[in-house]
Amino acid sequence: NNKVTVGTFRKRKAAGEKISMLTVYDAPGAAICHSAGVDSLLVGDSLAMTVLGYKNTLPLTMEEALHHAKAVRRGAPDAFVIFDMPFMSYQASDEEALRNAGRALKEAGADAIKLEGGAEVAPLIAKLVGSGIPVLAHLGLLPQHIMTAGGYKLTGKTPEDAARLLEDARKVEAAGAFATVLECMPSEVGKMISENISIPTIGIGSGPDCDGQVQVLNDLLGLFEEFTPKHARRYAELGRLFREAVTAYAEDVRTAKFR
Ligand code: KIV
Ligand code: NA
Repeated sequence: NNKVTVGTFRKRKAAGEKISMLTVYDAPGAAICHSAGVDSLLVGDSLAMTVLGYKNTLPLTMEEALHHAKAVRRGAPDAFVIFDMPFMSYQASDEEALRNAGRALKEAGADAIKLEGGAEVAPLIAKLVGSGIPVLAHLGLLPQHIMTAGGYKLTGKTPEDAARLLEDARKVEAAGAFATVLECMPSEVGKMISENISIPTIGIGSGPDCDGQVQVLNDLLGLFEEFTPKHARRYAELGRLFREAVTAYAEDVRTAKFR
């Protein structure tokens, strides 16, 4: 069980071996995912919805994200942990971005950070990597851009759109990102980008030909019941089991069977 590093991502792609990534938000979840052999853990800003009850990712703060990232690190001391930079923790200035990304490594013990965007964040990615902070890029559907995009939209539907995504992928690669997430684009576009850059693509809703896959843990486990994205694959129905268990408990107390 070799420790995963940014080098592992490169080697896996070169060897044609897929990379698994799951979001995780707490210590027990991290311990289970890491010991189960998941290659990398992402403390996603989906934390805002899956765990904290916000309507989207925009309200999540640095402090909230760090709080959870520290728990993930405590639960899986040897895992490759990626800290997802919250909305407005890296947009205002590169200086603020560097400080906040530094906090993820120094305070939470993260191995890398993730931020959303293509060409427009490439100079920032270069600065982060130049400072010693590994960066996972994120292209395609960008949940931190829903206000300007007018919602959650599939990207790369037109040839122009697909060409722009490839251009973005090349820019983040050149800037030094060690891999990039591809979210919600047609399978052909996921495949085309994966074949045309040297860093691994980690897909979510972007087809089978990405170099790896990432899923939101709570969707995978059937724990997030408000909304299920089309690309989510359910491996369990823990939400239903959870409800059945606590319903049985409440009933047993009511009827004095549990005492
Ligand atoms: O926050 C998140 O869960 C993510 C993944 C969907 C990649 O960014
Ligand atoms: Na995210």
